[in-house]
Amino acid sequence: MIDQSVERRPAIQAAPEGRQPNKRVLIRLEGLTKVYDEGDMHHMVLDELNREFYAGEFVCLLGKSGSGKSTLLNLISGIDAPSHGHVVIYQDSEAVRLTALTEHERTLFRRRNIGIVFQFFNLIPTLTVLENVMLPLELNGEAGASRRAQQLLDRVELGNRLQTYPDKLSGGEQQRVAIARALAHDPLLILADEPTGNLDEDTGNTVLTLLLELTRDAGKTLFMATHAPEVARLADRVLHLDHGKLVIDENGH
Ligand SMILES: Nc1ncnc2c1ncn2[C@@H]1O[C@H](COP(=O)(O)OP(=O)(O)O)[C@@H](O)[C@H]1O
Ligand SMILES: [Mg+2]
Repeated sequence: MIDQSVERRPAIQAAPEGRQPNKRVLIRLEGLTKVYDEGDMHHMVLDELNREFYAGEFVCLLGKSGSGKSTLLNLISGIDAPSHGHVVIYQDSEAVRLTALTEHERTLFRRRNIGIVFQFFNLIPTLTVLENVMLPLELNGEAGASRRAQQLLDRVELGNRLQTYPDKLSGGEQQRVAIARALAHDPLLILADEPTGNLDEDTGNTVLTLLLELTRDAGKTLFMATHAPEVARLADRVLHLDHGKLVIDENGH
């Protein structure tokens, strides 16, 4: 795979003046492209995406299965690297160019700054509910992990299940633990990849409401890929991924 991101620009640069004074840019995609090569086939999943997302907004990403939603989230989180182009994340007054970081540096950046909610929860089965939520704090060497984790678990109404293991919980309960975990280390950005995709409708709605409430209360940016059309109505901006391009919903801004 071609990775032109190795052009050696410094990872940390001064943030440019925002073009829209009331909106602080948090994420910028610059010519972001992901191609999967299979034999002679080039599968262009993301095609030169250029877009900015703002601090505090709730972005809803729609698109058919296979349209590249997870691929885009994995590039923004630095789990994966683009074929070419860049993801830039503005942190305080600095711009962090994820593509200029090594994989290890991206992992450290993600641990500190990003919380992720997955479709299949991805809790660690050998850790209790409390330990799962404490983990991001402990990985960052933060003090007070137990207290903070307990507060968040109270907030998702699982304060009475601290010592339970994930396999004893329902899907909705596991996802509520995952939401607490995603917020534990007070990240800049929450990414959610079809967080209700594995839940029945009622449970999905409860989980969604919690996720929105918690991220809004904490003033966080939420970027959510979803199939659930009702989510789109709540979002600040709705984008569609279609044939590798990000298109703004006609009702979006
Ligand atoms: N590691 C990979 N190797 C080859 N193709 C992949 C890989 N990961 C994803 N794809 C392809 O990229 C496309 C987008 O996948 P994905 O981002 O998972 O879509 P979505 O999340 O919208 O369902 C799909 O056609 C998928 O088969
Ligand atoms: Mg997906």
